[in-house]
Amino acid sequence: MPFISLEGIDGAGKTTHLQWIADYLRAQGANVVVTREPGGTPLGESLRTLLLNESMHIDTEALLMFAARREHIAQVIAPALAQGSWVLSDRFTDASFAYQSGGRGIAEARLQVLEEWVQQGLQPDLTILFDVDVATAHQRVRTHSDPDRFEQEQLGFFERVRAMYLRRAAQYPARIQVVRTDQTIDAIRDELAAVLKPLSGN
Ligand code: TYD
Repeated sequence: MPFISLEGIDGAGKTTHLQWIADYLRAQGANVVVTREPGGTPLGESLRTLLLNESMHIDTEALLMFAARREHIAQVIAPALAQGSWVLSDRFTDASFAYQSGGRGIAEARLQVLEEWVQQGLQPDLTILFDVDVATAHQRVRTHSDPDRFEQEQLGFFERVRAMYLRRAAQYPARIQVVRTDQTIDAIRDELAAVLKPLSGN
């Protein structure tokens, strides 16, 4: 069954649309497992707490992201797909390329080694990239009362993260669909329905 990941810079509006997508797919009869990264397993959620709160070397950050992902694939994603469920993950490996390579500056080739190690060919069937300009996204994040380590980054960081996301969307046009979130909710939902339709076969 399809594996879908949702991506975007902090404040792009991804989380707002996650539940709608899950409901939309369920209404079509799909069994949907909703999960997230970093996280999705008890160990992964512990790693998430460290990743979002503790300062660490950028390599440590990248390695922990992929460690959490390894556990997530083994415990949640692969079993769900094997059982015939859909998997909808709030972020996956494109986030590592965007944040750890684009944002932090780790060489992409190093992340590709980890990707191959951890995923052994597993890729989302569809990735929806929620995109909006950095100033708008930053405005939304600034209203968060307790910003995490990533949300505290400066505009330049998010410009680099966004640029890498868009570069990957251009590189993998069949997998990554860009949906702009500076439009009305109804217009966004129409676009989401259109990109989901080919997968649901209706
Ligand atoms: P996010 O998904 O935005 O959750 P919330 O909506 O609860 O803030 O938070 C996860 C953060 O982790 C986000 O800032 C991006 C970062 N991240 C990476 O840097 N690399 C990764 O590989 C993943 C999965 C996330």
